[in-house]
Amino acid sequence: MDWGMENRLAQLIQDDGHALFLPIDHGYFQGPTRRLEQPGKTIEPLLPYSDALFVTRGVLRAAVDPRKTKPVILRVSGGTSMVGKDLANEGLTTSIEEALRLNVCALGISVFVGTDYERQTLLNLSQLANEAERYGIPVMAVTAVGKELEKRDVRYLSLCCRIAAELGARVVKTYWCEDFDKVVQGCPVPVVMAGGPQVDTEMEVFEFVYDGMQKGAIGVNLGRNIWQNDYPVAAIRAIRSIVHEHAAPREALEIYESVKRETVAAR
Ligand code: 5RP
Repeated sequence: MDWGMENRLAQLIQDDGHALFLPIDHGYFQGPTRRLEQPGKTIEPLLPYSDALFVTRGVLRAAVDPRKTKPVILRVSGGTSMVGKDLANEGLTTSIEEALRLNVCALGISVFVGTDYERQTLLNLSQLANEAERYGIPVMAVTAVGKELEKRDVRYLSLCCRIAAELGARVVKTYWCEDFDKVVQGCPVPVVMAGGPQVDTEMEVFEFVYDGMQKGAIGVNLGRNIWQNDYPVAAIRAIRSIVHEHAAPREALEIYESVKRETVAAR
């Protein structure tokens, strides 16, 4: 592996082989998502506990201080919205030149397997990997399901992750599911887990993150279940303990409750 590629991956994946990426890219198709209306304010208290930010160039320039940030994974696919005809109809939005100008550590792109835009989005990934590899920039593929959340099962996600890796992704982001070990085992590159829409209890998040880590994920790329939580710092610190300190869900809950108490007391 060339020095640039290895160096970028090392900035993203920590010495323990694990990673906590904080995605704040949701606005690129959802607009001002709840509790991400002002991204700079959302991320400020969370940055110390994240290993990298997943963000578009617009929010990066407008809301992230270049002197105080973490490594950046630049979201480079898009072109659709929640109110448009089909979320899957994405193209490439951002050039490699722009990625170099922004000094990013990786590029992120969605693929929509099983949709009318499967071929187009998979070729977007291949084309991006062709260019990014020339400059030593890793690509993270996002196995997107759009509004069809019920697609998140082991058979479908294994298929998506394997295809993304075969086409050149250096890291794959997917959803946790039952029998997650099969997803990881079928994917020859590191896998990180997204959270999806906010779930009902903190414990549900801690349990799936823990299970996924036990089954071979290297970490998370988890957004709404952190920054839509009423106590986002407590949530990220608890999740970080699972990702980097092998905490079990109950220990993570104790961390969550303790940081929450500190936060309430400081208000
Ligand atoms: C949005 C994304 C997000 O980065 C990804 O879904 C992770 O965020 P969340 O945990 O909120 O699902 O790719 O398109």
